[in-house]
Amino acid sequence: MKSYKIIIATVLCAVAFVSCKPDTASRETLLKDWTFNGEPVRVPHDWAIGGEFDRANDLQVVQVVQNGEDSETIHTGRTGGLPWMGKGVYKTTIRIDRPDRRWELYFDGAMSGARVYVNGRKAGYWPYGYNAFSVDITPYVHRGSNSVKVELENLPLASRWYPGAGLYRPVKLIDRPLEDAIPTWGIYVTTPEVSAERAIVCINAGDLTVSSRIFDASGALVAEGLEPSLEISSPHLWSPSSPYLYTLECRTSTDVRTMKIGIRSYEFRAGEGFFLNGEPTKFKGVCNHHDLGPLGAAENESILRYRLGLLKDMGCNALRTSHNMPSTLLVELCDELGFMVIAESFDEWATEKCETGYHRLYDEWMEKDLVNLVRHFRSNPSVVLWSIGNEVPDQSTPEGKDLLRRMQYIVHREDPTRLANTGMDHFENVLVNGFAAGVDVPGFNYRVNRFEKEAIGRLPQGFLLSTESASTLSSRGVYHFPVEVGYGLRHDDHQCSSYDVEYCWWSNKPDDDFRASEDFDWCLGQFVWTGFDYLGEPTPYDLDDWPNHSSMFGIIDLASLPKDRYWLYRSVWNTSEPTLHVLPHWTWPGREGETTPVYVYTSYPSAELFVNGESQGRRSFSRENYMTRHRLMWNDVVYQPGELRVVAYDAKGAVADEKVVRTAGEAYSLKLSTPFESLAAGGDDMALVTVTVLDASGNPVPSASNLVSVSVSGAGSFEAIANGDPTCIENFRRPEMHLFSGALTAVVRSGLRKGNITVTVSSDGLRDATLTLKCE
Ligand code: GAL
Repeated sequence: MKSYKIIIATVLCAVAFVSCKPDTASRETLLKDWTFNGEPVRVPHDWAIGGEFDRANDLQVVQVVQNGEDSETIHTGRTGGLPWMGKGVYKTTIRIDRPDRRWELYFDGAMSGARVYVNGRKAGYWPYGYNAFSVDITPYVHRGSNSVKVELENLPLASRWYPGAGLYRPVKLIDRPLEDAIPTWGIYVTTPEVSAERAIVCINAGDLTVSSRIFDASGALVAEGLEPSLEISSPHLWSPSSPYLYTLECRTSTDVRTMKIGIRSYEFRAGEGFFLNGEPTKFKGVCNHHDLGPLGAAENESILRYRLGLLKDMGCNALRTSHNMPSTLLVELCDELGFMVIAESFDEWATEKCETGYHRLYDEWMEKDLVNLVRHFRSNPSVVLWSIGNEVPDQSTPEGKDLLRRMQYIVHREDPTRLANTGMDHFENVLVNGFAAGVDVPGFNYRVNRFEKEAIGRLPQGFLLSTESASTLSSRGVYHFPVEVGYGLRHDDHQCSSYDVEYCWWSNKPDDDFRASEDFDWCLGQFVWTGFDYLGEPTPYDLDDWPNHSSMFGIIDLASLPKDRYWLYRSVWNTSEPTLHVLPHWTWPGREGETTPVYVYTSYPSAELFVNGESQGRRSFSRENYMTRHRLMWNDVVYQPGELRVVAYDAKGAVADEKVVRTAGEAYSLKLSTPFESLAAGGDDMALVTVTVLDASGNPVPSASNLVSVSVSGAGSFEAIANGDPTCIENFRRPEMHLFSGALTAVVRSGLRKGNITVTVSSDGLRDATLTLKCE
């Protein structure tokens, strides 16, 4: 009977594969409408991001051991200065139309300590705020209307960065047939054989018998059968440069599941590095925390997609989801756009880093949390490594190696196809005590200049990964003179210089990391700390340095605006499009006659600089010194207002490109621009709009700091605003803000209905600007 049904279903559905579902099949409903502490909200929601910044919000007297501090001192802004601590209650109502089914609430993450009640009865609990979990609510529901309540509590001293607060990722109501249902994460796909000629796709559905079909990207059926492994001939392989995805459809007698899959192989070879589909491949990666700047932790697809697009354009091919589980959406976007992912789990094991951190949960929850992480993402082609921890103090304790072994075993048991990784910072200890030798893929955070002489020869694996690199510090558009290269530099304006030469005592300039990746096959590549600035950790102004409250590590700032460093990475990493970028800006009233170094980040082999038409000389890259491998520098340029022009030459010496930066006059008008063409009606889509200032001749005014008001009318609404200034404590949800280094971005949300959205910006003494977005 079973197989008969399957054959009928298969025949009928061969025509239109995704649309045909048996009426018993699982259904999923996104639960978007909730109340939070009595007020209506739309989930994903972050209860703290609209709050006021306040020094008292996370005033901590702590010793940050991993930063080398030897006593307790006052720290401010460490977790972003927003009111994320405390309790919050979300409520909604669900309708149950078929009580003869299995009902489940799925949370992609709830921050934190989630207690789930259905009709007043406790149905589930999940303490770790970053993990996805499901609650079987079948015993608690009845036909008709049912109440759901989620209580959350964020403890003080629980985090080293802004964790967000609330139901910040999607929540789904799922119902399934009682028999033969495919559970959440119930299909596990592997590709044990991959070559240009054929690929074997294994479909593991546990005890279920499933019939499977695989369709290529054009919708053509390429494999089908009842066997657990199917063959695809001449497969399209998945890689960051060609993220080809197939669609897998699995059916049981009552249920159906479709999912995207990718076919790729990878291998870590001693002394040789990482190979993707047989090709030597370096990780050109970034680490990111999960917040989306002024949206906080509340996830939004269009903004996340936009941010990933910026990284893609930079040539980045990998992400490390520091220091916790990624969301479903993030991993699916990485599958689609082509990023290799290190899916991380914890920042703490059994030994304390934060007073109320994960160590309190470790014994009881570590295995459950790891199992959920691995089962959740083990079929996603983008995931290439499981990170079982970041800089855990246990790397130096006598028990540390046992914890490592146990966690690595769990990961291998749940997914024998991938290796485990950990980011280590106790450089000498882990090399001596065997911790580094014990992990599948050893990852070091910083210390890049010690890899060659002190690390690689002591690692039996024969390779290592720079799991965190650079931690270079900069503020978009801010330059300090004279240019000083080094660490521990603090400036009166509480900013860091955008010459990209300031870092921390434990870290370095981007130049050092490029060199390690380029010169050593055993260096698998790097994950820059960080792609984007994030809320919290305002190093080096992280002592009693309020109002600093957000990081300066990002290649891109909190408002999603690239800093100069973006072009440095792009010039090295993006090998398909040319880069030519010059810094600093050229509007320095009062610096006339003073030495003002000029740097050029370019993919062309040489360039010549002109100030008001006068050549300052031609420079080429040289391998001798790390600083001149990827930066062209003119250190003795004397500032005169006018025009800075850089001309780039190709390998044959012909002029290939040029860039001009002009001294700006007085601010005259506002300008609005956006890379978003339109928004989808429905209330969930968002667009980013950039505001800049021009002088009367149309030159950007680089240090403008005018107060700008934003108004959004028509088929959308104002959502948030940010300027990337780590010292700015103006509210993210008020439609006005000062520009920082001449720019800010506003986020616009689509309305429920179609129409035009009009965005207008105004500022005292400046001409307004208006932009229209379509909401379709
Ligand atoms: C590392 C740590 C990161 C961040 C970074 C800043 O030690 O793993 O979370 O704190 O330093 O440089």
